Amino acid sequence: MTVATDQRLDPNTNSNYTDFVTRKISLTWNIDFAKQNINGIATLTLTRTASGKSSSKLLLDASHLEISSVKVAEQKAEFRVLKANKFGGTLEIAIPLSIQEPTVAITYRTTENCTALQWLEPQQTSGKYPFVFSQCQAIHARSLLPCQDTPSIKCPYEAVVTILDQPADSPLTVLMSANERTVTPNGVSFKQTMPIPSYLIALAAGELVSAPLSDRTCVWAEPALLQCAVHEFVDADNFINIAENLVGPYRWGPYQILVLPPSFPYGGMENPCLTFLTPSLLCGDRSLVDVVAHEIAHSWTGNLVSCSSWEHFWLNEGFTMFLERKILARLHGNSWREFNSLLGLTDLRESIALFREEEGKDGPATSLVQDLTQTDPDEVFSTVPYEKGYTLLTVLERLVTPSKFEVFFKDFIQDFAEQSIDSSQFRQYCVLKLPELTQFAWDSWLHGRGMPPSVPDYDRSMLDRCEELASSFCSTQKSIKLNDWQELSPSQQVMFLDVLLQSAKTLTCLESLDATLGISCSKNVEVLLKWHLLVIRAGHTHGYAQAAKFATMHGRMKYCRPVLRELATSGEEGRQLALDTFSKNKEFYHPIASRLILADLKLN
Ligand code: BES
Ligand code: ZN
Repeated sequence: MTVATDQRLDPNTNSNYTDFVTRKISLTWNIDFAKQNINGIATLTLTRTASGKSSSKLLLDASHLEISSVKVAEQKAEFRVLKANKFGGTLEIAIPLSIQEPTVAITYRTTENCTALQWLEPQQTSGKYPFVFSQCQAIHARSLLPCQDTPSIKCPYEAVVTILDQPADSPLTVLMSANERTVTPNGVSFKQTMPIPSYLIALAAGELVSAPLSDRTCVWAEPALLQCAVHEFVDADNFINIAENLVGPYRWGPYQILVLPPSFPYGGMENPCLTFLTPSLLCGDRSLVDVVAHEIAHSWTGNLVSCSSWEHFWLNEGFTMFLERKILARLHGNSWREFNSLLGLTDLRESIALFREEEGKDGPATSLVQDLTQTDPDEVFSTVPYEKGYTLLTVLERLVTPSKFEVFFKDFIQDFAEQSIDSSQFRQYCVLKLPELTQFAWDSWLHGRGMPPSVPDYDRSMLDRCEELASSFCSTQKSIKLNDWQELSPSQQVMFLDVLLQSAKTLTCLESLDATLGISCSKNVEVLLKWHLLVIRAGHTHGYAQAAKFATMHGRMKYCRPVLRELATSGEEGRQLALDTFSKNKEFYHPIASRLILADLKLN
């Protein structure tokens, strides 16, 4: 399926990807734990395009890499590293005009400024061994390998990886986002045969063991966490089955989950065949597995059909929220989906409020389609593309009827499989397949700022109970009954706390609430997050230390950033605590998280 794009190029890459297109990437990597680098050779096989026929230079994204030599078609080639801009460095390689399909082999090493990798000392893991893992989305692949670091370019990759200086009986295991893995005498060999964008290249190495969940699914974790992980994630295969029913076959072969150390900066990352997850999901009652459904959903939305630049990131995440909630609705029913949509709207409102500008206007980060010409996608990451994108799809679903939209959705995925598209291609496809959407307010949905132009009238049955209990607490300032609390699902508990957050400043008796309900001892991190925010916002300073501790236990930015931010703006005492907490725990945080926390705390 091809429909015209708006022809705008990805502003976040320095590569000349319209002149040359990467067809294949081969990596020979050594992991050096002692020096904390990855070194080796990246070999890119490219094709010159029609528009590149007079191009004598290949430009690749390369950030903080030490390049030692470059070969083109096996011959030593001229290269230089250009001065970095906001998005990173550029590796310029001379390519003779006579070469139509250059093979470019780059010998290089990563450096200590690499933003894609976090190197952990043994004491930062649950065992006795060092650990390293990557996080390439959005534009960090370029600090791991020289490449065309744009989601427009998709290709298969293969890799042979060794860990340097390991004894024969070393328990260290290397994993990658590949559908084939073989242990050979020369290292572990990987192949991802599906075409993928650079941001989905992923690697982890550490003391890892695995257990099967089903024929095609398994979970990897440090030994101490494996049993908990198996218990928590048993439903993975079921999620895949439901998704296949909704959007077509799972094309990736095996599906594996990797539980990372607590500094992992996201809840989950959809690395193909190898979802990365935060260990904070291991709460024992499977109440946080929506993240697993979400990462599985990306196997279609994002990984099979990808956004063509980060300006259209909502295509990845909005669609994935939509598929995630459709999967979970098949298991928990429609009122569950309606309630989660309402929770999502609450998050969306908060997120839009954070981007509000001085004169009360909505900021640019609140529109679905972004202008990232001057902006690193990490800096504007928020709930907006997730929940505003989801709202758009749900509005469309209800306009054309859910059953018709379900068919449309599956066709969309199959028609654009293995491609990268932008919002205008999606819009044209919609109008083509669903002519009743011709008059739809596309421009205000895609380009307008702030809350969506309209919101579906969601079923409020699961919400009413939360609001009832919350208003009873707010008016009496006496704790609600333990029994009533326990009858709420964890996400209803989150909603209850969300409602309290609206009037936090006037709450005096949070202690009695906690004494009765034990909220601060909840195993559910979503509940804990809201609790700590509530305590800080209500100005209950004796709870600050515990909140700060929470921010040091979870490197997932969704938890540490808002808590530190809330502390920092709560007054002098809180601000000092936030600064001290960050500086004492700098080593714990992932480089991506550190950078954003520094900006949050205005320390940059
Ligand atoms: N792909 C994202 C994580 C991501 C986004 C990393 C942008 C880097 C840049 C992942 O699929 C995701 O959305 N994770 C969420 C899960 C949640 C929405 C269920 C998270 O980490 O919170
Ligand atoms: Zn996602």
